[in-house]
This record gives sequence, structure tokens and C-alpha cells, in this order.
Amino acid sequence: MDEYRIEGGHRLQGSVRVQGAKNSALPILAACAVCRGISVIHNCPQLSDIDATINILRHLGCKVTVEGHTVTVDSTQINTGHVPDTLMQEMRSSVIFLGAIAARMGKASVSLPGGCEIGLRPIDLHLDALRKLGAVVTEEGGHIYLDCPEGMKGSVISLSFPSVGATENVLIAACTAKGTTTLVNAAREPEISDLADFLNRCGARITGAGEGIITIEGVSALHGAQHHVIPDRIVAASYMLAAAVTHGNVTLQNIIPAHLGPVTALLQEAGCDIRVHEKQLNISAPSQLKAMPTVRTMPYPGFPTDVQAPMMAACCIADGTTIVIETIFESRFRHVPELCRFGADILVDGRIAVVKGVNVLHAATVSAPDLRGGVALVLAGLAAQGQTTVRELQHIDRGYESLADELSRLGADIRRVKNEDGSKQENGNADLKE
Ligand code: UD1
Repeated sequence: MDEYRIEGGHRLQGSVRVQGAKNSALPILAACAVCRGISVIHNCPQLSDIDATINILRHLGCKVTVEGHTVTVDSTQINTGHVPDTLMQEMRSSVIFLGAIAARMGKASVSLPGGCEIGLRPIDLHLDALRKLGAVVTEEGGHIYLDCPEGMKGSVISLSFPSVGATENVLIAACTAKGTTTLVNAAREPEISDLADFLNRCGARITGAGEGIITIEGVSALHGAQHHVIPDRIVAASYMLAAAVTHGNVTLQNIIPAHLGPVTALLQEAGCDIRVHEKQLNISAPSQLKAMPTVRTMPYPGFPTDVQAPMMAACCIADGTTIVIETIFESRFRHVPELCRFGADILVDGRIAVVKGVNVLHAATVSAPDLRGGVALVLAGLAAQGQTTVRELQHIDRGYESLADELSRLGADIRRVKNEDGSKQENGNADLKE
């Protein structure tokens, strides 16, 4: 098992190019299963979750090739609508294949998905929406069977919560449904607009993506297309926070600044100087961060739940007390006990965390509880005095490409170490998952 060894206290300085968005690339790759023909997806990050998605596509019968950050999917031939448990369990986002497979094959059978353990993460909204589109859904012993005997039919679907995944499933499934679908209370995340842009390139007729009401006029078939995935706003925010906790000065390249609005606003309140120029953002952090106004996670365009844990790492060393409220997932504070190992002063009551800034964090040995919680621990390690060890890197590998390399280039002292017997060490280049 690999782990990070971080010698804290190094100020980050320099420039980092932000990877393509995992949360865009995953549904776009799944959508390729419906877009009969060849699709070429550029700017795909190299991550274990992308590997898991490619494995599912290959199992379905697609021919997939990967060259650097470009993934080519030939979905001319799909042989099966069944995805075995082992492939589904690799990540939660595999649920996004439900709509794609059902739309392409008329039926689908999958097991309940895996992924980060950050709460119950039910998929009732996905299933209700697919039922509205004409799918007969049966759940049995952890398996889900979808049957669309008469194909998908356009419908009016109103989500009780703007679920990102359910919105994506509807977008993908409704493109080739008979008639028009209206999705009310749709998620408005940038990744939804990116998926709709890809599907429209493939011949879909989607309007309103990025707004609360999306209209999808069904077409008879979709074809393949080329697409460039948007930059990852969560990874961008993580690098901004790495600069903030090390009093650094970092420029992010290849970002869409508008996607970072609430993160930027809070970091400015903390005393950071943030300047934006086209696709670049420079953050210069003060020697002492200030406590922030309440950090409340909300659906986009609110503060992203995925940045809650990394932001909390910064609150731990701010001057004053910050309240953090998690409204999206019911148990997304699993990083808190680990942050406390660094000497952080955090009290949790339900979905509210009270973070009292401390003068100094001390190095600790900690385990990543999930993807973003893991990055929060890396940030704490960068800020702490002494040598920190972060374990369970498989969580971080799901979302961050070459994290140790990128942070090293910015001046951090971080190494990825193989620790099967506690002795063998590798350099930061080992961060890329094979
Ligand atoms: C996506 C993102 C994830 C992010 C989340 C919220 C991907 C691959 N993942 O996850 O990084 O944290 O959006 O921005 O894009 N819910 C239900 N029933 C459902 C579906 C969701 O109750 O059928 C609940 C969930 O338990 C959660 C909330 O709705 O409490 C948000 O979930 P959702 O927006 O669906 O998140 P994901 O698509 O899973």
C-alpha cells in the first residue's frame, strides 16, 4: 500500500495546470455507450475512476483506446446490457450507466453501485426518473433490472432534489426517447452543461442545461463526436487551498474562474488576494488566514460539498472560529477525527462542524477516509510542523492525477512511498495510477 510522506511548512509557489473534470468525464464516457459510433474525448484525467468506467465500456462491447488524456470509444457494437458486480462496485458513478445501457439496449441489469462512503447515497431519484421514461424497474438482492419493453418515452420529470447523477441519467436516457422530456429541478452543475454539450454534438436536442429546467427533444439515434472535457473545479479549489494553507502564491492554468465563485469569495474573506485573467487564476495567501463566514454546502452555484473537507483544513489554522454546515450528504465529516490528530479543534454536531483555528498543526499519521477527506489531510500535512503520513491513497487516486508530483513542483516536500514492509520508497512520479 502506498502512502504520502509530507514534510510540512514549505510555502507553495509557481504554476499548476488543472486536470480535466472527473465528474464530467465519467458521465460523458458512459454516454458514449448510447452514441453509436466513434467518440473522441479529450482532456480526460488519468484516474482510477476513469479506468473503472473504461472497464465497464469494454465489458459492454465498446472498443476503447487511451492515448495520454484522450479516450476514444467505438460503441458501434454493444453486446450486453448486464454489468457484473465486480465492475459496478468499483465506483458509485457507475450508476450513470443505467440510463445509457437501458436507452441503447432496451434493458439493463446491474448491481447497486460502490464508491466513496459518504452517506447512504441512495439512487431512488435515478430509478423514479427512469420509471417516468417508461422503464420497468425491479430491485432484487442488491441487483437492479431495467426493462423498457416499448423503448423510452418522453415525460415530465420533477426531481425532489437537484441530484447531479439523476439529472445526468435523465439527460442520457431521454435523448433517444420518443417525444420530449422536461426535467424540472435539474442539477445546474457545470458538469451537467458539459455532458449536454457532448450529447448535443452527438445529435441530441437538449436545451436549458445549466438551468433548473432542461428540455430534451428525443431523436431517433445519436452518433459519435469529439469533445474536450472542462477543467476540474474541485481540483482547482484544492490547489487554491494548498496555496492558502502554506501562505503561498500559486497560479492555476486551464480553469474556468466562474466555476470557482463561492470558493474564491470565501478565500478572499480569509485574506487571500485572488486575481483572475481569462483561464488563469492567481492566489496569494497571507501569513495568517482569517476565519471565514459560514461555509454552507449547497447545490451549484452554491459552495460545493466536494470542497467542504479541503476548506475545513484551511479553517483549522485560521484566526478565529468558522462554522461549516454540510447540507448535501449526511455523513461527510469523516475527515474530522483525522484532522483532530493534527491538533485541530473541531466539534461536530450532526451536519454542523465548529472549527476553532489553532496557531499550529502538528504532523500526524492519518488515513484518507474518502476522496476529498483524503485531500484535506494532505493539506493539513502541508501546513503542519514535522513529517505527516497519509495512508489509504486509493481514495485520493480516484480524483487527483499526479497529486504528489504537482505539489512537489510547487515546492512541497511530499513523496509517495510504498510501504508493504515499511522500507521501500518511491518518488512522487509513482502518483499516477497504472
Ligand atoms: C455528484 C458528484 C459528487 C458530488 C455530488 C454533489 C459525480 C461523479 N459525483 O455525486 O462528487 O459530491 O454530485 O455535488 O459527479 N440522493 C438521493 N437519491 C438519489 C440520488 C441522490 O437521496 O437517487 C441524495 C444523495 O444521497 C445526496 C444528495 O442527494 O445526499 C446529492 O446527491 P447527487 O447530487 O446525486 O450526487 P452524486 O451524483 O452521487
